Amino acid sequence: MIARLLFLFLVWPSVTGTHEDMPFMEHLDMDNNVSLCWGFSEVQDTITFQLTVKTTGWVGFGFSLNGEMNGADIVIGGVGSNSIYFMDYHSVEQIPVVDKKQDYTLLSLTEQDGQTTMMFRRSIQSCDQDDFQITNSPVKLIYAYGVSDDIGYHFNRRGVKEVNLLNYIPRSSPLDSNYLDFVMENITVPPQNTYYHCKVIKVPWLNGKKHIYRIEPLIQNLDLVHHMLLYSCPSSVNQTSDMTCYTGENGEGCFRVVSAWAVGGEAMELPENTGIPIGGQDHEEFYRLEIHYNNLAQDAGRIDNSGLRLYYTAELRKHDVGILTTGLVTMSNWGYAIPPNASDFHSYGLCSTSYFSNMLTEPVSDLSVFAVGLHTHLAGRKVRVGLFRNREQVDFLGLNENYSFELQQVTNLGNIKTIKPGDDIVVECTYDTINRKDITKLGLATTDEMCLAFLFYYPAISITNCWSHPNMHAYNAMMVETAIPIIEEMLNTKIWDQTSIEMHEATMKKIPQIGFISNDNSSYTYYEGEISNMKASPSRSCKSDPSVTTPLPPSANTGTKRVISLVLTASAEILLLIVWLM
Ligand SMILES: *[C@@H]1O[C@H](CO)[C@@H](O)[C@H](O)[C@H]1NC(C)=O
Ligand SMILES: *[C@@H]1O[C@H](CO)[C@@H](O)[C@H](O)[C@H]1NC(C)=O
Ligand SMILES: *[C@@H]1O[C@H](CO)[C@@H](O)[C@H](O)[C@H]1NC(C)=O
Ligand SMILES: *[C@@H]1O[C@H](CO)[C@@H](O)[C@H](O)[C@H]1NC(C)=O
Ligand SMILES: *[C@@H]1O[C@H](CO)[C@@H](O)[C@H](O)[C@H]1NC(C)=O
Ligand SMILES: *[C@@H]1O[C@H](CO)[C@@H](O)[C@H](O)[C@H]1NC(C)=O
Repeated sequence: MIARLLFLFLVWPSVTGTHEDMPFMEHLDMDNNVSLCWGFSEVQDTITFQLTVKTTGWVGFGFSLNGEMNGADIVIGGVGSNSIYFMDYHSVEQIPVVDKKQDYTLLSLTEQDGQTTMMFRRSIQSCDQDDFQITNSPVKLIYAYGVSDDIGYHFNRRGVKEVNLLNYIPRSSPLDSNYLDFVMENITVPPQNTYYHCKVIKVPWLNGKKHIYRIEPLIQNLDLVHHMLLYSCPSSVNQTSDMTCYTGENGEGCFRVVSAWAVGGEAMELPENTGIPIGGQDHEEFYRLEIHYNNLAQDAGRIDNSGLRLYYTAELRKHDVGILTTGLVTMSNWGYAIPPNASDFHSYGLCSTSYFSNMLTEPVSDLSVFAVGLHTHLAGRKVRVGLFRNREQVDFLGLNENYSFELQQVTNLGNIKTIKPGDDIVVECTYDTINRKDITKLGLATTDEMCLAFLFYYPAISITNCWSHPNMHAYNAMMVETAIPIIEEMLNTKIWDQTSIEMHEATMKKIPQIGFISNDNSSYTYYEGEISNMKASPSRSCKSDPSVTTPLPPSANTGTKRVISLVLTASAEILLLIVWLM
């Protein structure tokens, strides 16, 4: 049960001040006189900024539609001779006018070594007409500053820079940089609407460990390539292949997502202190590139060479990035069934990090999560990832209330979230099977389902998967005392109505989960655990007072014990089931 571990590439965590809250940084001017750090929490609906300007006078910062001051939403502050000042303004005919409603909260204002540093916070969505609405699109950030504390005309001490605050992709340029192209080679896209091609690629000899820091799409046919996924393979995969996906090719075991791109997506870049290790293993390394082609015109003979460019550097960064797969174990033959005719069926997977110590020889460290990739197949509509400490939910590591299989991207979190040793991670997937006639199993085909969250974190530990599956013996025992596994009955009969769907869903959630934790070598440990209730998603409405941070709303309480009776029409007999649900 307890696995043995041999190779570990471990980097100890370091203490980084407010970097967790504000992981992003841009210089707003050419000379680095003005710089901005920021971070946000979509859960709390807040965005935090730290503006640093080389001046001892006033500093101003704002959002503008056209880059001009007119109509802009502005904050101005500074350290005066015996007090600090800070106000929320909007600009009317080039003059800053104090907002009636003050929607920015000052967190700190300091002056040191000729620099003024102003840290402040606001709601992402403000209710004030005079405030700018921050969205997922690029926004023109304007700044200005003075040489004294008399707020007056800034002359040429001003500027503008366009930045996408909520969907930021850093851009670093290490001196020692190189790239690998993982691309299809002259594959012929068949004349069919949907086609998946998979290529297992051997990583060339890199002469030691390198760090991947940026991954860019290389799209040859924008009208055909719908989405791409790059997976790294476990050491058991040791051959290349180039064929239709999910037809039993050797790369099916490679499902640790390293990068995801979908129509409309961009490059992905890792935080500047991190990299995905490549090339440093004592065995050959393989990656699998999967491309979904949408050939709607059903053209024959279209050739494609699309793929991804992986930038790597020999200047190793401080932390190795690890990718932890959490969620529901994808095993098609363990009897998991998503019923047909369900509009929002919930599946759950559990990861109890308390058992990591069974798999590691060194003490378990805090894991800093900076990005997340959520993954289901075609029936998935929502994915939420809850972080639990002492069985209380403390945060969401991922939240997509409008999941689309076709728009998968690994997204940067607005802040760095810490998984502490002993925390539980629950992945919840919501499926819509209204238009399906039969049950949906878990599996690799896109018509099967998955419920996974890939957590991008540092420092890397040697654990790869931490996922669970409901204990189906417990399910059967709970459903009925019968020799016939009840799940078989369900597969073979049309018993799915609202009541039976709800009972099935609740039972799958309530019974013990068998959790599995594995490493690169597929050594594993297992345990029994329980799915805790996840809190309701935070509401997206604007909040007038940003200083009132919204705590997570209370869990939906399932309340008192109730008895549900259900009539199952089995092939030969009628079973009356009485199930106790908490
Ligand atoms: C993992 O597998 C490799 C190759 O089979 C072996 O050399 C190594 O000792 C294994 N590591 C662990 C932790 O079992
Ligand atoms: C930056 O500040 C220095 C003095 O600290 C000044 O000489 C220079 O002109 C400034 N650059 C810009 C773009 O304002
Ligand atoms: C792809 O096709 C082009 C044009 O026919 C050819 O020049 C090239 O060598 C081919 N590449 C590979 C890898 O087969
Ligand atoms: C590839 O791996 C399989 C087991 O997964 C092993 O039997 C085979 O010998 C390996 N081949 C090579 C070339 O290493
Ligand atoms: C959900 O995403 C789809 C695209 O997949 C988009 O068309 C739709 O507007 C989104 N709905 C909401 C409520 O955001
Ligand atoms: C789907 O569920 C609805 C409501 O429970 C029911 O009326 C309908 O007959 C079901 N459809 C199928 C195909 O089972």
